[in-house]
Amino acid sequence: MSTNNLIEEHLHSSAHMAKKHIHPKLMKMMELGGMASVFERGEGAYLYDMKGERYLDFLSGGGVHFVGRNHPKVIQAMQDVLSANYPNLAIINASILGGIAAEKLKELMDFPDSKVVFANSGSEATEVALRFARYVTRRRRYLYLDGAFHGRTWGAISVNGWAAMKEGMEPMLPTCTPLPPNDLGALRRELARGDVAGIIMEPVQGMTLIPLDPGYMREAARLCKEHGTLLIADEVQTGFGRCGEWFLSRSYGIKPDIITTSKTISGGHMPVSAVVVSEETYNRVYDKFTSGPFYFSTFAENNLAMAATVATIEALKDIDAPARAQVISQRIRDGVMKLAEKHDVIDRVIGKGLMIGIIFKESEQLALKVQQRVLKVAEPTFFGAAVNVDMYTKQKVIVQVPGPGLNAIKILPPAVTSDADADYFVQALDNTLTSFYKTGPAMALGQSAVKDTIKTVKEALPGIGKKNS
Ligand SMILES: Cc1ncc(COP(=O)(O)O)c(C=O)c1O
Repeated sequence: MSTNNLIEEHLHSSAHMAKKHIHPKLMKMMELGGMASVFERGEGAYLYDMKGERYLDFLSGGGVHFVGRNHPKVIQAMQDVLSANYPNLAIINASILGGIAAEKLKELMDFPDSKVVFANSGSEATEVALRFARYVTRRRRYLYLDGAFHGRTWGAISVNGWAAMKEGMEPMLPTCTPLPPNDLGALRRELARGDVAGIIMEPVQGMTLIPLDPGYMREAARLCKEHGTLLIADEVQTGFGRCGEWFLSRSYGIKPDIITTSKTISGGHMPVSAVVVSEETYNRVYDKFTSGPFYFSTFAENNLAMAATVATIEALKDIDAPARAQVISQRIRDGVMKLAEKHDVIDRVIGKGLMIGIIFKESEQLALKVQQRVLKVAEPTFFGAAVNVDMYTKQKVIVQVPGPGLNAIKILPPAVTSDADADYFVQALDNTLTSFYKTGPAMALGQSAVKDTIKTVKEALPGIGKKNS
């Protein structure tokens, strides 16, 4: 059977099959929220379901589709590679397009005195960075920031700044010390101990949407040099123009020892990450004649991955992605802040560029406030989750809930978002919130999710819902 026939036959059952064989828990959660659509087509900023219904996709596959879904340049590059019968992975990692991809990435980063280590995911890039830092410094301790997210592998969760991910996983890498973001005093104190291999930080945290102050990052870079610690900038999510600059750390005038990148890099088609390492650090890692295999990964520079990377970089340059991100970001932020004048549940808009968080608060309107208070007992971030579901099911706009504890929605709109798309998003949020003032947010969630929530509320507040005897 051809792949096309296989897809045709199984498309309608793909959610069911994924639930059965891959993600039973995750798919159940999506079902509870009425969010288990099967999408048939993706193009630019849109997804289309099997009924032909269009969704504005501001989740962008977790940020990988920043260049727009199925960008023609990226598709063409991959088709070219496949149709030419090139020898893929012929001699260990001497791939045809790897060097070109690295050269283009270094240019984009304005980081000429560097080398690129390709890998397959953001988490793997984190592992590479942690490994290099230990080897170069021969120190054991890492610093990371509260609220940070650097991936889901062992080393990466050791430097993740939220406890839930570490539950049942101790002992982590010895020794990892959390610091509050933007706190120079704490950073100075820890670095002065002289035992820190590396500090890892996201210029804008993906989970909390907290941007680091440029001044904080600059001083961190200076202090790291002073104390022989490696600065690792995790630009897996912020990179490639999403935050209004090609790479935030470089735009602040910093030269981190290591920059990790992924997500946007390959147009959403191939699993690719790149660890860009300063020449000086690289030479300290690959310090012997026999150091060649110190780090490489079997599939890392495969032809499809590298072709997609080269084409994605070109496509992002064609549209001047950072400039476009700034324009769209401003339009969305202005639109949402205008909405805040009529919807008092909007507290503030955070993040940077096209990493945007919209934080909600309690309304002054009594009926809504009561629902918010009761449901908050079951889940403090309930309101954000309800907005997420309503926007998906009723407005056909895909957003996400950010990290734990934030009563908010998060969006990662692609660079190909048009002005009309930005306005459409603002209107959709307006529609959702307007409906919540009328009927309350509980209605947004599927019946079983509401039942589950009410059960939790009853357990937390015994007596609630009982008739007076
Ligand atoms: C900042 C950051 N670092 C690392 C990762 C891990 O990437 P991956 O899921 O590709 O392993 C992510 C993923 O969301 C991320 O946002």
